[in-house]
Amino acid sequence: MKENHAEGSSRWNEAVRPIYARERLLGPAPRHAIPAESMAPSTAYHLIHDELIFDGSSRFNLATFCSTWMEPEAHKLMAETFDKNMIDKDEYPQTAELEMRCVHMLADLWHAPRAAETIGCSTIGSSEACMLGGLALKWRWRERMRKSGKASDRPNLVMGSNTQVCWHKFARYWDVEAREVPLTGDEVVTNPERAAEACDKNTIGVVAVLGSTFTGHYEDVTALSAALDRLQERTGLDVPIHVDGASGGFVAPFLQPELVWDFRLPRVKSINTSGHKYGLVYPGVGWVVWREKHDLHHELIFNVDYLGGTMPTLAINFSRPASQVVAQYYNLIRLGKAGYREIHRACHEVAIHLGKRIAALGPFELLGAAGNLPVLAWRLTKQTNWSLYDLSDRLRDRGWQVPAYRLPADRQDVVVQRVVVRNGFTRDLSEMLLHDIERHLAWFESQPGFKPTMTGAGFHH
Ligand SMILES: Cc1ncc(COP(=O)(O)O)c(C=O)c1O
Repeated sequence: MKENHAEGSSRWNEAVRPIYARERLLGPAPRHAIPAESMAPSTAYHLIHDELIFDGSSRFNLATFCSTWMEPEAHKLMAETFDKNMIDKDEYPQTAELEMRCVHMLADLWHAPRAAETIGCSTIGSSEACMLGGLALKWRWRERMRKSGKASDRPNLVMGSNTQVCWHKFARYWDVEAREVPLTGDEVVTNPERAAEACDKNTIGVVAVLGSTFTGHYEDVTALSAALDRLQERTGLDVPIHVDGASGGFVAPFLQPELVWDFRLPRVKSINTSGHKYGLVYPGVGWVVWREKHDLHHELIFNVDYLGGTMPTLAINFSRPASQVVAQYYNLIRLGKAGYREIHRACHEVAIHLGKRIAALGPFELLGAAGNLPVLAWRLTKQTNWSLYDLSDRLRDRGWQVPAYRLPADRQDVVVQRVVVRNGFTRDLSEMLLHDIERHLAWFESQPGFKPTMTGAGFHH
């Protein structure tokens, strides 16, 4: 019998020939135009899979705050729900129900006075959640100004210069002045008194960060709230707080439960977090929750009926994958508070261990000792023939990605290097990182002609 794959068109042959002998893998990958012809699924798979080898392993990525490991059962649930769109709440009512359960669990975790009734939603990440939190502040402020017959065309948002770029985006995209409080002296987080001093009648709110993207330090939300209380006594200005708990919102309740930073402070009106950071879900899922329903202006909720049924929507994006929300609910009920505490404690222990060992190497000084997030940041304290940018660059020789960057205004003279310890970064891996750092320090020493580089290759933080 004639074997139909043995002769005839190369299209027939393609699907059965050994992978790396296939015609489509002998030429370059399509780059600038969709190819005219199809290729076998396995050919396309290998072509793409092999290119992605160059990304390296996400487990070596010590720059990211995002989760890079999840349990097989979570993978399974995510795969079962890849096809679902989070926005189709009428079609997937049970997925919508899981989203609301997560909102109320977070509201409860953060001590909202009526956790089971308050409002919030999932987002694609903290950036979208921060946009919604910021918009709610702007809408409330504008309504207040209009009601009292005052101009509402020059809103400002007070924040430290150490806030993440999403707040600068918020300010620019939504036409709000970003009123930055610079860091001074030895500060790595915003000074609460100076944040309160920066407020005026046009301030829609103050952002407090838990914890800082630059060094992992928590801002003192209690002190900020007290400073704003005093401002109110002096001037009558009642300025709300939004807490950007992108990382800390999922850490502090488990590791520092006594720390008061959340809805226990009546001035805190909204909180965001990234489910995909210490919420332990793969990217992208974020959350925003308001203290009380009325803290979110009704105009920000849209009712749409074109998916069948009337559906309130509160989000910037419309369509979004449901699988991350399902995975978040899985983590919350599978791990429970005890599980989150154990995982974060393990990360903390690794961070403290690594911090001690790095400090003992000689040329480094730690900025705080992983007291807040399980994040380590260090600076150089000695004159050397290499910089932290050079160390970062050389650490890539075995795949490690350890960013070096400048602190924000007004501390831009300080260059730091940071490691985010996440679920899956074991003590054993931390020892291997340390061994590689030692190896590179010895190499720099053996190269007296080496000159330090003073700019980075461009890590995002
Ligand atoms: C404090 C802070 N806010 C917001 C963000 C943005 O979060 P996402 O990446 O979830 O959009 C980050 C990300 O690192 C962050 O650290």
